Amino acid sequence: MQQPFKRHVFVCTQQKPEWAPSCAAVGGEKLLERFRVEVAKAGLQDEVAITGCGCLGVCQRGPNVVVYPDGQWYSEVKADEVAAIVDEHLKGGAPPRRAVDPDAETIRKEAAEHRAKTRGMMEGMARSGALPEALEAMVRGFQPARVVLTAVELDLFETVERGADTAEEAARRLGTDARATEMLMNAVAGLGLLDKRDGKFSNGEWARAFLVAGAPHESRQAILHSAHMWQRWHALTECVKHGTAVSYRPMEDRGDEWTEAFIAAMHKNTRMRAPQVAAALDLKGVRRVLDLGGGSGGYSIAFARANPRLEATVFDLPTVTPLTRKYADATEVGARVKTVAGDLHSDAYGSGYDLVFISAIAHMNSPQENLEMLEKAHAALEKGGRVVVQDFILRDDKTRPVTAALFALNMLVGTRSGSAYSESEYRRWLDEAGFTGVERLPLPGPTGLMTGRK
Ligand SMILES: C[S@@+](CC[C@H](N)C(=O)[O-])C[C@H]1O[C@@H](n2cnc3c(N)ncnc32)[C@H](O)[C@@H]1O
Repeated sequence: MQQPFKRHVFVCTQQKPEWAPSCAAVGGEKLLERFRVEVAKAGLQDEVAITGCGCLGVCQRGPNVVVYPDGQWYSEVKADEVAAIVDEHLKGGAPPRRAVDPDAETIRKEAAEHRAKTRGMMEGMARSGALPEALEAMVRGFQPARVVLTAVELDLFETVERGADTAEEAARRLGTDARATEMLMNAVAGLGLLDKRDGKFSNGEWARAFLVAGAPHESRQAILHSAHMWQRWHALTECVKHGTAVSYRPMEDRGDEWTEAFIAAMHKNTRMRAPQVAAALDLKGVRRVLDLGGGSGGYSIAFARANPRLEATVFDLPTVTPLTRKYADATEVGARVKTVAGDLHSDAYGSGYDLVFISAIAHMNSPQENLEMLEKAHAALEKGGRVVVQDFILRDDKTRPVTAALFALNMLVGTRSGSAYSESEYRRWLDEAGFTGVERLPLPGPTGLMTGRK
C-alpha cells in the first residue's frame, strides 16, 4: 500500500447558498490556509498532506476538519486553535481534548440526516423547475459587478477612508441621496468590501489594499475601465442584431478620462505578465524591439530590464504616447524606451527591428487587418528577426477558454470588427505573411504567445 504521507488533514471549504449553514461561510478557506502555514512552521509538510474538501455533513458545527488515518473529527475550529492541533496531534500524536467535537455516533446520525435532507431538496428543486444555482448565478451575476463599479465610480471607498463612517455622512460628502447610499453601502458590506459594526462603516481588507488612493495596489483607474466597458456591454443585444458595436467611437475620440483609465488597466495587467513574457522570449541577442500598440510601455519596460543593451520603441496613437512617456520615465529604463505616435493601420512601422511584439492588438482587428499588420511587421524586421503575438487564443471550436470567448464579445461591443481568434487562424496569417517556424510558446495564463521568424 502507498503511504506517501503519515497523516492527511481535510478542511471543509464547502460553499452553500447564503441561507444554508456551511464551512465556507464560517471561515473554512482561511482555516485551510492557517493549517498550511502551521504545518510548514512545524516542518511537517513532507509528512502531513493538507487539502480542502467538500461537505462532511455536519454543517451546523463548521468549520469542520478531519484527520486521517486517525479518523479524528474536529468541529467549530477557530484559527487560533490550529497551532495546538498541529503541535499536539500532528506532531505529538495525541488529539487535544475539545468539548465541542461530536462523538462518532452523533457524526453518523447528523451526516445521515444531512444526506437525506440534501437528496430531498435536490429532488424538490428538480420537480419544481427552479433554476440550478449555477444558472441563477449567471443570470444575476451583473448585480454584484454593478454594485462594486458604482461604489468605485462614486469614490465611496476613498470617502469612507477619509472618515465618513455613516451612510448619512458619506452621502453628504458625495452629494448623493442618503437612503440610497445606505442601501449601496449595506450591499457593499454584504459583499465583504466594507465592514459594518454597530452601524459604522469602515473599509475591508480588499478595499484598503486596492480601492483607496495610495493603496499598495491601487486599482481604481483600472476598475473604472471596467465601468466604461459596462456602458458598451449593456448594448450587447443590439450589437448582436447589428453585427458590430452600435455606439462605436474611435479610440482617439474617447477623451482623456477614458484613455487614462484604459491605459491604467492595461498597465496593471503588464505588471505581473510582462516579466514572465520577457523571461519566456530569451531576449539575449535582441537589440531593437518594436512594441506595436504598446500602450503604457509595460512590456517594453520589462524587455529593457531583461537586457541592458535592448532599446524598445512603443508605437501607439498620439493620444496615448504621452501616457507611455509618463509610465516609462517613471522607471530606471525610461531612456531606452522610445515612443512613436502613429496609426498601425495606415502608417509604416519603420525597419531594422530584431523583434516586433504585438500584444493585445490582434483582437481589435478583423482577420484581413491582422494579415496586413503581420505583413507590415514582417517588412519591419531584420532577416532572422522574430514576431511575437500575445493575445487570447481560442480552441478551434471557439468555445473555450471561456475568458477568450467572452472577450470576443467584448470586442463585438467595443470595436468595428474585432474578435478573439484561434491558434489555426494565427498560424494561417503568420504563414501567409511570410514567417517560418511558426509556433505557440507555452506560457501559463489567460493569454497565449504565437511566434514566427523572418
Ligand atoms: C489592448 S491595448 C494593449 C496595450 C499593450 N500592447 C499591452 O499589451 O499592454 C491596445 C493598444 O493599441 C493601441 N491602438 C489602438 N488602435 C491603434 C491604432 N490604430 N494605431 C496604433 N495603436 C493603436 C491602443 O492605444 C492601446 O494602447
